[in-house]
Amino acid sequence: TPPELLRNFCIIAHIDHGKSTLADRMLQLTGVVDSRAMRAQYLDRMDIERERGITIKSQAVRMPWAVEDEAGALTPYALNMIDTPGHVDFTYEVSRSLAACEGAVLLVDAAQGIEAQTLANLYLAMENDLQIIPVLNKIDLPAAQPEKYAAEIAGLVGCEPEDVLKVSGKTGVGVTELLDRIVQTVPAPHGDPAAPARAMIFDSVYDTYRGVVTYVRVVDGSLSPRERIVMMSTRATHELLEIGVTSPEPVPTKGLGVGEVGYLITGVKDVRQSKVGDTVTNLAKPATEPLGGYSDPKPMVFSGLYPIDGSDYPVLRDALDKLKLNDAALVYEPETSVALGFGFRVGYLGLLHLEIVRERLEREFDLDLISTAPNVIYDVTLEDKSVVTVTNPSEFPGGKIGEVREPVVRATILAPSEYIGAIMELCQQRRGDLLGMDYLSAERVEMRYQLPLAEIVFDFFDQLKSKTRGYASLDYDVTGEQAADLVKVDILLQGEQVDAFSAIVHKDKAYAYGVMMTGKLKDLIPRQQFEVPIQAAVGARVIARETIRAIRKDVLAKCYGGDISRKRKLLEKQKEGKKRMKTIGRVDVPQEAFIAALTSE
Ligand code: GTP
Repeated sequence: TPPELLRNFCIIAHIDHGKSTLADRMLQLTGVVDSRAMRAQYLDRMDIERERGITIKSQAVRMPWAVEDEAGALTPYALNMIDTPGHVDFTYEVSRSLAACEGAVLLVDAAQGIEAQTLANLYLAMENDLQIIPVLNKIDLPAAQPEKYAAEIAGLVGCEPEDVLKVSGKTGVGVTELLDRIVQTVPAPHGDPAAPARAMIFDSVYDTYRGVVTYVRVVDGSLSPRERIVMMSTRATHELLEIGVTSPEPVPTKGLGVGEVGYLITGVKDVRQSKVGDTVTNLAKPATEPLGGYSDPKPMVFSGLYPIDGSDYPVLRDALDKLKLNDAALVYEPETSVALGFGFRVGYLGLLHLEIVRERLEREFDLDLISTAPNVIYDVTLEDKSVVTVTNPSEFPGGKIGEVREPVVRATILAPSEYIGAIMELCQQRRGDLLGMDYLSAERVEMRYQLPLAEIVFDFFDQLKSKTRGYASLDYDVTGEQAADLVKVDILLQGEQVDAFSAIVHKDKAYAYGVMMTGKLKDLIPRQQFEVPIQAAVGARVIARETIRAIRKDVLAKCYGGDISRKRKLLEKQKEGKKRMKTIGRVDVPQEAFIAALTSE
């Protein structure tokens, strides 16, 4: 297809504003999926995506759409719709998807109005110079307020309220007009067909049967089957076994030219060989300059991951290896814990990523897992000025420390203005600095905060939701790091450190953490034959203490008399029970106690 007849666009929206439903309707109206084969959220292929109703991996689909010109003649266009993930953890993937388009449909729920991710995605789209098509969705809802929110959106994107299209992805109202509008207003792609090939990778997915499927957008030149290609960031070369477009099933083609969007198959088995953001070129006639800006995904949140049944460790290792084929952002290395046995320290993009990885491991590989409390990454400067990067609190250096630096984010919170006070209070408790505040309308406010990442990875979003009756939305970006007064709190059982419970916390919160953790363990750890102190300590200084009183548990006491075989059986049973015990110093603790302490709030 010549570039003049191509339109590449994406749909950007806050979570749940109806992106997938609208995409479904477009697939149906353009005849790409017939009504009988239609299933909800056609593009979200992973089970977990369909169940949670969220989009994790982006996909691209090609749809034919003919538009009548003034003379009444029909011109056949090809629309490439690139679906983008909607969550903060996947911002990098969103921005790569946007870079593959010339236009963006900005979708806003007509009963909700603009939310934090609407803004975040709109700013990303504007940075990529995309033509924005503002659209209000769900106008069929009785609670919809299209006039009010059309004005809000018009103010934001700088158009007239009448220019905001009103659609319903559910009933299909307005979707034909939207498709026409895309053809009319989204610019056709530009590029030099004679130049060496340059195609940007905006997604790569591991498929058990086909290996890695790489989604690209060709900017210059063209790609054809059987050619050898080079990945510009790694210099790795591959043969193109198959090239095609998705519509909605993969259809092989003879090649992809300027502006086209499609997939490549090279037979590689690991998505890390085909990285999102990288540029593909031709080996025989390579381009000299890669397309702008590639960056490696950077894990921001770490946590220990352990099988509840220690004998599952090899299964967990294989499962992580397999998952990694499809998740370039996942990093892990083996770790052992006195309390939990053999496991892994895993790095994630954020908390949602953590939850998704864990859920996929449990579900797809039938594992029972326990994760330790998540922590961020710290840079610790020692007295001799050397810097240690800490991803596990138990590795936090002892002795004199120069400075500890932690990642900070710039957070955007949108909420009804009556909640300003509650939001300020929460952000203050979390060591936040107010950067600015704007009213989007009389009753809706945008607040910008700088916050330590560590303060939002736990329950910040839940707290924000509960303090604003669910009305606030949040988006954040890691923007840098700052020095902070951070200390490591250790938890000791009879003077022995329990590694899984060490935490790096702000000095002012060390005491609260110590009291909480010692209290929890006191209730969970069974009494021993001797008194066991549970202490929380910062360095050598004890900041909280509980005591488990001693009992004398004599299993043989019950069977006085001469039944020796019964006695032996009881002793055997006790030994069996001990196997699942973890020994910390002289103290025997059932592993369940540690697990309960890590899972209870
Ligand atoms: P993410 O993939 O999580 O970003 O969500 P999404 O934006 O794709 O939203 P999705 O299409 O899953 O829709 C969210 C909810 O809104 C679902 O329950 C839909 O049934 C509902 N919904 C979507 N479009 C409409 C609409 O036009 N009218 C009504 N009444 N409901 C809609």
